Amino acid sequence: MTPSALSDSFYPAGGLNVASYDLRADLDRRLFEDPIPFYGEQARQSGGPVLELGCGTGRVAGAIADMGIAVEGLDLSEPMLARARRKYPDLVWHQGDMSDFDLGRKFALVIIPFRGFQELTSVAQQRACLARAFDHLRPGGRLVLDLIDPDLRYCLPEGDLETVKLPLFPMPPTAGAPEHFLRITAMERYNDPLTQRFDEHWRFEEVTRMGEVIRCEDCWHRMRWVHRSEMALMLELAGFVSLKEQSSFAGDPPKYAANQIWQARRP
Ligand SMILES: C[S@@+](CC[C@H](N)C(=O)[O-])C[C@H]1O[C@@H](n2cnc3c(N)ncnc32)[C@H](O)[C@@H]1O
Repeated sequence: MTPSALSDSFYPAGGLNVASYDLRADLDRRLFEDPIPFYGEQARQSGGPVLELGCGTGRVAGAIADMGIAVEGLDLSEPMLARARRKYPDLVWHQGDMSDFDLGRKFALVIIPFRGFQELTSVAQQRACLARAFDHLRPGGRLVLDLIDPDLRYCLPEGDLETVKLPLFPMPPTAGAPEHFLRITAMERYNDPLTQRFDEHWRFEEVTRMGEVIRCEDCWHRMRWVHRSEMALMLELAGFVSLKEQSSFAGDPPKYAANQIWQARRP
């Protein structure tokens, strides 16, 4: 299947991806490093207010609010924001594009957790996002974000056509409904080293205990990989100083094919 043949939105309304996002993010927190204590600590040090770009279902902003720190979230996807609003009705949620927004005020900290920045798939969008973040920071305020450092074996033009199946997830229970499971399969992946973009075909299936497929959704996850020297340069061009990169939320030094976790300050 070609990248254009499937649904263009990775977060469609009423879709299995949005419905299962928190479930998967929770599993990710348990299997890998948990980003929430790190961003919570960044928020505490800043004293707030905090702006989360690409806030999704609000799991990070919500945890910051629970610490008593003022926080707002902005996301492009109305279905993801609807979940954030349902979970945290008292917080301020903005629908908007992180590369083109103006909230008319400034924050002590801007964060972009869980690789949201990589969902901007062109250099122009990524640079515009850094410029918007800079403009929304007070002097001395900081931008903190995390990316996946590209593993160059998976960036070649021939892509990775192997399918990867994740474990079955129990679906969120619905009163009176039979128990169903969610099967997620990464079907194929196209890489474009020219633009540093990869397009991943994901399949979401709701299945019964016997394996019968009740519902099947296909969509593309499009991201742009960023090399560390490029990221440093983009941050500098946007006006940021005191750049710091680490490879884990615990503070390990930069490492190839791990995470790129960046902290930068507006002078
Ligand atoms: C991987 S999720 C991360 C969500 C949240 N930060 C978390 O840690 O759970 C990436 C989010 O970025 C949002 N996003 C993608 N492109 C965006 C854009 N141009 N402007 C604002 N949000 C965007 C998506 O809708 C999605 O909710």
